[in-house]
Amino acid sequence: MIRSMNTSTKAFPILLRLSFLFTISIISEAIDTITTTQFITDNQTIVSSDGSFEMGFFSPGNSKNRYLGIWYNKIATQTAVWVANREIPITNRSGILKITNPGILVLLNETGNIIWSSNTSRTVQNPIAQLLESGNLLVKDANDDNPDNFLWQSFDYPCDTLLPGMKLGKNLVTGRDWYLSSWKSNNDPGRGVFTYWLDLRGYPQFWGSNGSVEWYRSGPWNGLRFSGNPSLKKNSIYKFNFVFNKQEVYYSYELLNSSIVSRFSINENGFVQRWTWVDGKGWVLYLSGPTDTCDTYALCGKYGSCNVGNSPVCGCLDKFVPSRPKEWAMGVSTNGCIRRTPLDCEKGDGFLKYSGIKLPDTQYSWFNESMTLKECQTACSHNCTCMAYTTLNISGEGSGCLLWFGDLIDIKEYTENGQDIYIRMASSESEGLAISNGGSKEKKGETIGISLAISMVTLSLIFGLLFYVWRKKQQQQQQQQLKREGRTRDIFKHGYNNESQTKDLELPLLDLATIMNATNDFSESNKLGAGGFGTVYKGMLEGQEIAVKRLSRNSKQGVDEFKNEVICIAKLQHRNLVKLLGCCIQGEEKMLIYEYMPNKSLDSFIFDPTRSTILDWPKRFHIINGIARGLLYLHQDSRLRIIHRDLKASNVLLDIDMNPKISDFGMARSFRGEETEANTSRVVGTYGYMSPEYAIDGHLSVKSDVFNFGVLVLEIVSGKRNRGFFHLGHNLNLLGHVKIKTGNAILISTLN
Ligand SMILES: *[C@@H]1O[C@H](CO)[C@@H](O)[C@H](O)[C@H]1NC(C)=O
Ligand SMILES: *[C@@H]1O[C@H](CO)[C@@H](O)[C@H](O)[C@H]1NC(C)=O
Repeated sequence: MIRSMNTSTKAFPILLRLSFLFTISIISEAIDTITTTQFITDNQTIVSSDGSFEMGFFSPGNSKNRYLGIWYNKIATQTAVWVANREIPITNRSGILKITNPGILVLLNETGNIIWSSNTSRTVQNPIAQLLESGNLLVKDANDDNPDNFLWQSFDYPCDTLLPGMKLGKNLVTGRDWYLSSWKSNNDPGRGVFTYWLDLRGYPQFWGSNGSVEWYRSGPWNGLRFSGNPSLKKNSIYKFNFVFNKQEVYYSYELLNSSIVSRFSINENGFVQRWTWVDGKGWVLYLSGPTDTCDTYALCGKYGSCNVGNSPVCGCLDKFVPSRPKEWAMGVSTNGCIRRTPLDCEKGDGFLKYSGIKLPDTQYSWFNESMTLKECQTACSHNCTCMAYTTLNISGEGSGCLLWFGDLIDIKEYTENGQDIYIRMASSESEGLAISNGGSKEKKGETIGISLAISMVTLSLIFGLLFYVWRKKQQQQQQQQLKREGRTRDIFKHGYNNESQTKDLELPLLDLATIMNATNDFSESNKLGAGGFGTVYKGMLEGQEIAVKRLSRNSKQGVDEFKNEVICIAKLQHRNLVKLLGCCIQGEEKMLIYEYMPNKSLDSFIFDPTRSTILDWPKRFHIINGIARGLLYLHQDSRLRIIHRDLKASNVLLDIDMNPKISDFGMARSFRGEETEANTSRVVGTYGYMSPEYAIDGHLSVKSDVFNFGVLVLEIVSGKRNRGFFHLGHNLNLLGHVKIKTGNAILISTLN
């Protein structure tokens, strides 16, 4: 039949064209089947019975060429899921698809030449071609619905797309290979260089290949997902499955809801991707692989471990070292790593457990589905070329055995859904932690258990002791230092027993490493601002936002103020005072850790033309009230009587609800309960805020703070800086201006 078509190439098209006129009346409504008496021309299509898929001729992208293909019928963007004549396009609109009598689909061009055909090993009486609701194009006998008797189906010849129900893998009986191959480009469905295929060497795994180069690897199926696809999870769109039996090995999926349109395909750049159709948005990318550079096969070489979170991404597994350190130092890591301590199989090696990884390449692996992990370990330990073992199926309790022969390659670290693997190690390296080799099985387990327990206890005892000694020493040092310096400082002159004071200082001491970690190594981006004594950084400590005040190292004055602040504020608890969470004294470093105030300080609001509009009168009143409460507490209600000495807008912080919190106690002075004033030779504070009697005579009392408060109130109300105030009529500051305007008995600060 086919031969006769070829021989009568001239007459045939005319015949076809004649019968085409005849068939038009038959294919007037959407049908899903063609019979031997029908055929499809360029402007005809058939549609699956539920209307989801359509088959006919189309031109991809910008191309003018015509291809016979199947696409989604219900979505706006034409998306071909299968193409018949991938390699040989029809250059005009005269293509014809026909099913011949023995059951072969043929695609003819204008000259009647067959440019594509399906194949079959059998013949049937009454062949038809039918487009199923799944998008599968079927050739079968019209009266035989037994899948085993189908002559041909397009699902057996995937192009770049895996539809629900299609298989990706291999038929072990027939040898059929279901794999995806990329299009050359959007305009050319011809076979590109990229393929995604199942590798049956060792335990099966999928490869994404670029020509003959294996580019990325799915890793072996572990019962839940592929080891290299940690993001393959239970979801609301599709259910995936991996089938591995004597007849076939394949991956497939089905959609959970027939109204969802989702496909898995390989794109022209070789990436495998899952796309889901969203009305109004089009195709939305759901998953894509390779996900990152660490998916590049063997990037870090043998026993190398890839982690995208690191820079460079490659490292050696624990207890392994670079095989060529000089190259590694220059960022070339493909040579991989070697064991720090060589193996000695004769003497007996052990195994060390590594967790959270993508299982290495299984090309040279062996597996058994019924063995336990213990049997697996025994099997591996008995063969000196066996380098690792693990559980084959991690679903449920875990079962089966997977062994690797030869060096392990292509290991990646995951933060979630990584797997465990037990790697062969010299017995000295695996001691105490790993499962050692040789001896009877039962006894072995016991001794390991006991020695493990003993070494853990010993270790924790040693650490505990060391920590205790260290803490004790630190505390002693601190106390001595505080004692030494305390004697000479104001705060202790006023009758405070420094012993009890340091003892009462129940403030968490944080170590430098913790703070560095919390502030990203004091990074520029964490910097909140720089003050008189150092820099303030934002940080994150145990989920809480913190502000770290880091004193500049060489500020002698800063150290005294630091101690002062710690002692002062640690004792103070009031909702209008900023809360000190801890401090850090380590070497030269001195730091205070406060709760973080997201709205920064008051001056950033009241003096800023735009931000000040946020502060309406009720808010301003609320702030003034809060500052007054805080001050009242310092002056009257706290156990210590504190004079802040540096109350100003930049030392009032605002929390998220705009509650004011007085901060910066670096200059504060404490008094005995009944004491209210003192004289000091060292006047500290900020000019413009200071009371005249303090600024001029050094006479200090709670009234000094009240004066500061007054200035602050004027600033909050006026939105003008006391010192930056300028008026055409006079050269006074804000206070002077207020005095003139009101005639009130506010002291005029003349200390500008
Ligand atoms: C399927 O999806 C449609 C639209 O999203 C929804 O209305 C319908 O309830 C879903 N059906 C099932 C069985 O989940
Ligand atoms: C160890 O395993 C390898 C790979 O399966 C095999 O070729 C070799 O014969 C085995 N050696 C022994 C001693 O069993």
